[in-house]
Order: sequence, then C-alpha cells, then structure tokens
Amino acid sequence: MLIPSLIETTIRELAHRGKTLNAYLYDLAPMHQKIKLLKDIMPAGLEVFYAMKANPHPAFLQAALDANVTGIEIASLGEANKAVAAGFSPTQLIYTGPGKSMEELTWCVENNIRTIHIESLVEAFRIQQICENQGKQQDILLRINANFDIHDAQTTFSGGSKKFGIDEEQLDIALPQILALKHLNFRGLHVYAASGVLNVDDLLHNCQLVFDLTQRIEQNYAGVSCDIIDFGGGFGVDYLEEGVDFDPQAYANGLASMIKQYGFAGRHFVLELGRWLAADCGWFCSEIIDIKTSRGKKQVVCAGGINHFRRPAALAINHPMGIVALNKAKLFTEQESINQEKVYFGGPLCTSADKLANDVYIEKANVGDIAVFGLAGAYGLSMSNNGFLSHALPQEIVV
Ligand SMILES: Cc1ncc(COP(=O)(O)O)c(C=O)c1O
Repeated sequence: MLIPSLIETTIRELAHRGKTLNAYLYDLAPMHQKIKLLKDIMPAGLEVFYAMKANPHPAFLQAALDANVTGIEIASLGEANKAVAAGFSPTQLIYTGPGKSMEELTWCVENNIRTIHIESLVEAFRIQQICENQGKQQDILLRINANFDIHDAQTTFSGGSKKFGIDEEQLDIALPQILALKHLNFRGLHVYAASGVLNVDDLLHNCQLVFDLTQRIEQNYAGVSCDIIDFGGGFGVDYLEEGVDFDPQAYANGLASMIKQYGFAGRHFVLELGRWLAADCGWFCSEIIDIKTSRGKKQVVCAGGINHFRRPAALAINHPMGIVALNKAKLFTEQESINQEKVYFGGPLCTSADKLANDVYIEKANVGDIAVFGLAGAYGLSMSNNGFLSHALPQEIVV
C-alpha cells in the first residue's frame, strides 16, 4: 500500500515527540468527495444517510453534515446523542437495528425522529404503546429479511434465519397486524442484503427484489403504499487490493433504469452507507514494539492489537499495509528485523486471537518503525475490544 504523504508526514511528526505511537489518523477529504459524487450521479429521489456505526468520531459526523447528507442512520441512543451533538436535527435520524430498548424508542418518539425501522412485531407493538402514551404518530419502515443472500459479501444481513427484520415469508402475517396499529404510519420497506459488496449487480439484484416486493404489497393491500424504500448500506471497498472498486456510476445507472421500469419515480430511495464513505478516511498506525522468530516465522508485535483494531481478526482478512521506517538504533547486535518475507502481525494482548495481519509480505521493517493499516476509517476503533487488558485508547487525530 502506498502511504499518502500527508499521513506519512504526520506519523513522522508524531514519532518525533518520543512517545510510543499508537493512533488512528483521519483525513475526511474522501468522504466529502464521495458524498458529493453520489449527490451528482444518483437518480432523483435518492437520499444518502451516513451509517455512523462505521465511525462515530465527531469529524466524520461533521464531514457528513458539511457535505449535506440527508441525515444519519443510528443504531442506538448513544449514536442519536452523538449525531445531535454534531448538529443534526432528530428529524434527520433514521433508526435501524434489532433490540431497541423501551428508553431508546421513547426518545425517538419524543424527539420526532424521521423513521423507525421495525425489526419485529414486539417492536411494532412497543412503539404503538409509546405513541399511545405520548399521543403521537410515528413514521415507520418495515425491515424485511428477504429470502435472498449475496454469497461473496463480507457480512450478510438477509437470507436464512436472521435476527434482522421479519422474514419475507411471514410478511402476510405481520403486515396486517402492523397496519392495524393506529399510531404507526407505515411508510415503506427496509431491505438490507449485505455489507462489503463490490459487485454492483448483486446490490442491484437486491433493489429489484425490493421493488418486486413493493409491487406485491401495493397490489395485495388496498390503500397501502411504500413511498420510502430503504436499501441499507453495502457498497464495498477493495481491502484485498485486487483493483476492483465499487462502481457508484454503474449502480446509479442501474437504479435509475429500474425506477423507470417499475414506474417508481416520485418515491424516496434511501441509502444508509457506512464503509464506502468512511473506510478510506482512516489509517491505524501502530509502533512495532517487538520482532522475533518463532518456529521459523517472524512474529511482529505492535503497540495496539484487537483492542484497537479488531476488524482484520474479526473478518479474517488482511488490510492493506505499509511501513514508515524510523531507523531507530538497535538495542543489541543480533536484534531481528524483517527483510522481504511474509510475517505475522499481532498486538500486546494475551490471546492468540490478537491478530492484525497474517502471512503479509513486508519488504523491510525494524523495531520502532510504524506499521500502517489502510482502509481503517470504517469499523475500526468503535468495533474493537477496547476494554480488554485496559491499555490506553489509541489517539484519534484528524490531519
Ligand atoms: C442497518 C444498517 N444500515 C447500514 C449499515 C452500513 O453498512 P455499510 O457499512 O456496508 O455501508 C449497516 C451495517 O452494519 C447496518 O446494519
């Protein structure tokens, strides 16, 4: 991986201060550009929400606000508070995710959030009760666990037995009950197939299935219309550096012709994007504390491990990597270094699960150099095991 010069310069400046370096560096320019691009190319009616679970750091929320996203997709009250603190109105929030508590739902109704995306009948009845108590109406989408999955996605949210949404096969049992809840305004569907999808056709196939479902509902239920259709997130990034980037223009073209074909112009189409907006805004930079050979393989130990950057271990992939050489003096003559070989990178935690990368080819590295993991802006620090072993959190620095 080529380390951008702004990132390398910042690393050198930080290293110069003499403290062990362990930090996320963030540059929000790619997020600005991508939101702008989507606004330029997507069909009329398409609204971009930032799924802040990808990175809840205030700089990411600020970038989303500055770039004029329609709003924020939240998954907890904690996220709602952060989004509001960043300057978003509660009416710009949409809430998806299983296991929403009574307190969380009460806050949403009280604060008039835009839509709550219902994951189960229990949740629907709970919102009805809250609305009754407050004398209010709440706009909702129904999240469907479609009978479809994208096999080569990194994480799937649809197909099979899932805690997300209501199974497509149970729609005709659930929907009449939801429509009968007088404090709920049914506005449409939420169907999110998978995360980390690089193949545009796979995601468009999901859109087509949702459109089919929409047509079926509108034909079968008189007076019901789905004027909001939410496709969730899913745009992938090229973690494996295979030169296959997600093509937003192809997605925009495909969606535009599908909207025309189904006669769906005039509706709202929602994207809740996390990874694609945030991933290439972050680098996890961690000092190499130790290098040693164990049974023929080099073990490289960094200052931070899965407590700070869990994603490679959780998803069993290597992120793109580079090394910033700091040429520190050796402590003793035989001290080991890396020289054109495939090695293992881990952190300081007392578990063999503490993996940052495995079998990764490194040209040269020494103790004291900085290992840099790219595409770390999404699902980095916030998805990590922060509390384990009570190490200090890494710094988060906006360059
Ligand atoms: C409901 C929901 N919406 C949006 C997203 C963001 O997905 P992505 O990062 O793939 O864009 C997620 C991710 O888990 C999600 O669960």
